[in-house]
Amino acid sequence: MKILQVGRVDLSVFVLLSLLGACAPGYLPPPVSPQLVKFSSEPTNELQRGHLIHQAKCAKCHAFENPADYDADEWADEIMPRMAKKSKLGFADESAVLAYLLAARQLPPPADPN
Ligand code: HEC
Repeated sequence: MKILQVGRVDLSVFVLLSLLGACAPGYLPPPVSPQLVKFSSEPTNELQRGHLIHQAKCAKCHAFENPADYDADEWADEIMPRMAKKSKLGFADESAVLAYLLAARQLPPPADPN
């Protein structure tokens, strides 16, 4: 009987963890912190503009993507031109979002809560 009970406890822990996993948010784009600014040669207000445009435009069709999943050249040469077109961004806005993402992708990843 005791073994059966332990089994039930294990199962409920498993179910709980699965539910938590399902509810955990995906990638959340970081704010423009002093640390992020250090990873860019662009001025802070340009990075802030890029962050705001990214927040407003880049999770309409899919969840926010972690910029660290792609290298800088991929962002600059392939992804941003394609996604800027999809988001109908002008050149200045595309440049601001790119500058923000290229800085954000260099931040150390947040601590794993597990
Ligand atoms: C109109 C819908 C739409 C918008 C708006 C959009 N995307 Fe996408 N995105 C897609 C689709 C669809 C894909 C899948 C690949 C494809 O079809 O090009 C994708 C794929 C991606 C990928 C995966 C890499 C790749 O090359 O496929 C990244 C990263 C990405 N988007 C970033 C962004 C960013 C940053 C923005 C804001 C500037 C953005 N997306 C806005 C539709 C969109």
